[in-house]
Amino acid sequence: MSSIMVINAKGGSGKTTISTNLASYYANSGFKVTLVDLDPQGSASKWLSSRPITKAKIRGVTSLPPQKVSKKEDEITIFDVPAAIYGARLQTYIKKARKIIVPVLPSPIDMSAAKDFLNSLRNLGSVIRNRTDICLVANRCRANTNIFEELDDYLVKEKGIRYVTAFRDNTNYINAAKRGLGIFEMGEAMTAQDREEWKPLLSWLKRKKKK
Ligand SMILES: Nc1ncnc2c1ncn2[C@@H]1O[C@H](COP(=O)(O)OP(=O)(O)OP(=O)(O)O)[C@@H](O)[C@H]1O
Ligand SMILES: [Mg+2]
Repeated sequence: MSSIMVINAKGGSGKTTISTNLASYYANSGFKVTLVDLDPQGSASKWLSSRPITKAKIRGVTSLPPQKVSKKEDEITIFDVPAAIYGARLQTYIKKARKIIVPVLPSPIDMSAAKDFLNSLRNLGSVIRNRTDICLVANRCRANTNIFEELDDYLVKEKGIRYVTAFRDNTNYINAAKRGLGIFEMGEAMTAQDREEWKPLLSWLKRKKKK
């Protein structure tokens, strides 16, 4: 395991929610987790400061590590990136990550912004593209709504970027966030559907990039 970045130029798509849930999942799975909060809003850091001390430990950092991210098998670094990152900064950030998750909401504005953002990722140098694995996650989805079906159709068609899963819109995420927890640290029955929805993302994160 190495480094995972959750990024999308569009605000409010679920970057912090996915980053904090990943951090708590890996911390509970025995990894040494560092959560890098690159957002001046500090939402991930606030989540961390409200985390009960009895829960699996997560280290918090608020700036980009200058050195290479550790490749030790038992260490994992998760980057929560603010919205509106483009150009040279995007390139600098992306270089730090092996796995990139782009969350997208089911809304016309978010889908259009996602298309532009994915194009800016595609325009990054081939060196970065070749060493980085990128996936898409639909977030805050409501089953059987037209806009979710539209998002689903659109994400499937994005070339070269795998659409791995869809997370439902659910208060479990909000309740977990308030308490400094992840959904994996809440009641199993209550979060059963969410846990199922996370499985494809967790297996994608485990797999090695195909050459
Ligand atoms: N699947 C979900 N179900 C319900 N609420 C969600 C879900 N995902 C995110 N949220 C809520 O949506 C809001 C925005 O999510 P979040 O803060 O993770 O987005 P973000 O991309 O980090 O935003 P920003 O660009 O401001 O950093 C938060 O209030 C969060 O609790
Ligand atoms: Mg955020």
